[in-house]
Amino acid sequence: MYLLIPAAGSGRRMGSSRNKLLLPLLDKPVLAWTLAAIKASRSVRWVGIIGQPDDLPDFKEIVISLGMTKCVHWIPGGTTRQESVYKGLQALPVVAERVLIHDGARCLVTPELIDRCAAALLRSPGLIAAVPVKDTIKVVAPATQLIASTPDRRQLWAAQTPQGFAVEPLTRCHDEGIRQGWEVTDDAALFEQCGLPVTVVPGEESNLKVTTPMDLAIAEFILRQRGK
Ligand code: C5P
Repeated sequence: MYLLIPAAGSGRRMGSSRNKLLLPLLDKPVLAWTLAAIKASRSVRWVGIIGQPDDLPDFKEIVISLGMTKCVHWIPGGTTRQESVYKGLQALPVVAERVLIHDGARCLVTPELIDRCAAALLRSPGLIAAVPVKDTIKVVAPATQLIASTPDRRQLWAAQTPQGFAVEPLTRCHDEGIRQGWEVTDDAALFEQCGLPVTVVPGEESNLKVTTPMDLAIAEFILRQRGK
């Protein structure tokens, strides 16, 4: 299975001047935890790391320190996640029929979840890992700060990565997104907007995305619980 890792973001919401994926989490950088899970996955053979050129020397050091045995490719990122993934899709070998996409910032992903998504992708052209939401979610009008609606919580799921797709339709959806000016925060949204089906695979509660300093503290707690 081919896997792309969007890792070209910044540390803005983390309050950091450098890429948050290079911040330390226990004894190694955030990205090293993500890559260690990918290294341990049985299904992934080819990994494309999408990063900003300035970060590549640090990323390379991480890959070497992990002794990655998989085929690793370096792909320059874009100014948004959407653009970074698009560049990743362009860099896939022509023989790649399906691809998993996993955010570098979801560093607590397990090899088992990656392999479950890879197996499910053989039966479905589009899928995401997701978990039911625990909070009641409100839709709020930005101008007035008034609640516009309260969606039925039983139908709400929080999207995670891995997300997986057949490469050809996903590339078409990205092209359509560029033509139409769609701005999305995950790849499933492009698939949906093009009217294509996306299946939900049960994700993991611990598969959080490291965004703020509090997420880093929670990630550290979970890793310690796992005996790391
Ligand atoms: O900012 P956020 O955490 O939502 O980004 C999700 C993932 O997308 C992160 O792993 C980040 O490194 C990546 N990203 C990217 N290119 C960008 C912005 C974000 O690859 N321009």
